[in-house]
Amino acid sequence: MNRRRRVYEGKAKILYEGPEPGTLVQHFKDDATAFNAKKKDVIDGKGVLNNRICEFIFENLNAIGVPTHFVRRLNMREQLIREVEIVPLEVIVRNVAAGTLSERLGLDEGTQLPRSIIEFCYKNDELNDPLVSEEHITAFGWAAPQEIDDIMALAIRVNDFLSGLFLGVGIRLIDFKLEFGRLYENEMVRIVVADEISPDSCRLWDIGSDEKLDKDRFRRDLGGLLEAYTEVARRLGIMSENEPVATARGPVLVQ
Ligand code: CDP
Repeated sequence: MNRRRRVYEGKAKILYEGPEPGTLVQHFKDDATAFNAKKKDVIDGKGVLNNRICEFIFENLNAIGVPTHFVRRLNMREQLIREVEIVPLEVIVRNVAAGTLSERLGLDEGTQLPRSIIEFCYKNDELNDPLVSEEHITAFGWAAPQEIDDIMALAIRVNDFLSGLFLGVGIRLIDFKLEFGRLYENEMVRIVVADEISPDSCRLWDIGSDEKLDKDRFRRDLGGLLEAYTEVARRLGIMSENEPVATARGPVLVQ
């Protein structure tokens, strides 16, 4: 089936050549990785859920005028996207202290931040995606000052949209990661949201219980990752109550 040319394979996704020039197909795998792929597993059905959740979020962002690379979902695991030149930054938006911010600044996880904070990491697995400042970004030419401004403005809009969306379904948006790309179009170039937005790239806590509904379930060996992602999809009204998460592997023997 996959006779298409594979353009890139990452930890959780594969990019194939798209049906027309300037397009790609983004395929969501079931692979889960953490700590720069030092911890790995396969979680049947994760890719299907992330594809659907990402579709829902990107479609809504497109609809409110936040440009993304997303065109449309193609099937259970794949979406059609516009080809962009990825800016080599992981842009992290934080509302509440958690993860590496808590470690770095000695803040208890769950502490509300005085305001939303945007951080930049240089996208480089060999270096463990180090935190960098705007000075590094412009000095090394990873993005121009105007592009950093555009990225920050879009990141704030995405944060406001996602915070409200999740709040409405009883979920607190703690933090999330964005990637951006340069979209070349009729002699013009503009910054758009790329990659994915899913429970793999966000921290999502249930408002009543603080239960984690995101990839920390895998990072911290809490179990129940698929159930948590399904709950996010269900609350967003993406998947109906009884819709099975189809996987290519068939039933799994319970031991
Ligand atoms: O998640 P971790 O503790 O490694 O790092 P963080 O800087 O606290 O992550 C902040 C947010 O960005 C979390 O929602 C992570 O899931 C997300 N993130 C990501 O999706 N991919 C990365 N390479 C790093 C962070």
